[in-house]
Amino acid sequence: MPIVIFRTPDGTQRKVDAPAGSSLMQAAVSHDVAGIVAECGGNAACATCHVYVDPRQVALVGPPNDVEDEMLDFTAAERSPTSRLSCQIRVSDALDGLVVHVPEEQI
Ligand code: FES
Repeated sequence: MPIVIFRTPDGTQRKVDAPAGSSLMQAAVSHDVAGIVAECGGNAACATCHVYVDPRQVALVGPPNDVEDEMLDFTAAERSPTSRLSCQIRVSDALDGLVVHVPEEQI
């Protein structure tokens, strides 16, 4: 099973099992990762699952879809070129070792 790493600004690092086919958000919520609230349940409508993908790995996850791209303009933390809604990232074996950063504003 792929393992994904969530890092928070204080240096805390959580390695979580992320089942292939689930979303990154689901993996975070099921492991109580701080800062991933996911109020809308994964419908790209709340932006409380915002993460920054590690810049070295952004090609692995690809760009946001159109709906996600619009929602990323309403995040609590400043949008960056590697911003994604974790509910819109589908986990696959290729994402094993992915590192994402949880914005300080969500902690
Ligand atoms: S869970 Fe609401 S936008 Fe991702």
